[in-house]
Amino acid sequence: MTERVLYLMICGAGPASHIDVAIKLAHDAGWSVYCVATPAAVEHFLDLDELEQLTCHPVRTGYQGQGQPALPRADAVIVAPATYNTINKWAAGIADTYVLSQLAELTGLGVPIAVLPFVNTALAANAVLHRSFDVLRSSGVRVLFGEDGFQPHPPRQGNRVMAAYPWHLAIDAVQ
Ligand SMILES: Cc1cc2nc3c(=O)[nH]c(=O)nc-3n(C[C@H](O)[C@H](O)[C@H](O)COP(=O)(O)O)c2cc1C
Repeated sequence: MTERVLYLMICGAGPASHIDVAIKLAHDAGWSVYCVATPAAVEHFLDLDELEQLTCHPVRTGYQGQGQPALPRADAVIVAPATYNTINKWAAGIADTYVLSQLAELTGLGVPIAVLPFVNTALAANAVLHRSFDVLRSSGVRVLFGEDGFQPHPPRQGNRVMAAYPWHLAIDAVQ
């Protein structure tokens, strides 16, 4: 059987510390998981060796280096936790991290993508975020935000709601 390849794009927000939960759910759903992480995720939240052990693949943080294995073609993509920063830059066409440049290409290719934000109510009150969601939706991206998706928490409450981060919605969205 050919493997079904899922790129898990990880940004710099708290739930990245619990990315093992997403990996387990994705494995249970039959995906081979390839993690791609932003510099902020790597600096503050991730243990790359642990992730490599969990997924059996090295974590990509930049363009393919010499001797590094190429990423297989993605069947689907999850962006989670998706930061305010990455969401807005992605929608604006900025590609200054490896995650963003990959998202630009994958969106253009029409690969199924689900984005599960992790933002507080202060960030979510900015009109620009909703403009970005509209832009991404119009490009075919599944934005999991609001009643049927991620619901923002009050500022400084992120740690308290982390355990309830709805990873399963992202996995279900790309099935
Ligand atoms: C401890 C910590 C927690 C953070 N939590 C969030 C968060 O919940 N949501 C968010 O959008 N950004 C959060 N940030 C800010 C992002 O990490 C920052 O905007 C960064 O530039 C995001 O880069 P990236 O989008 O390339 O991952 C947090 C940063 C730190 C250090």
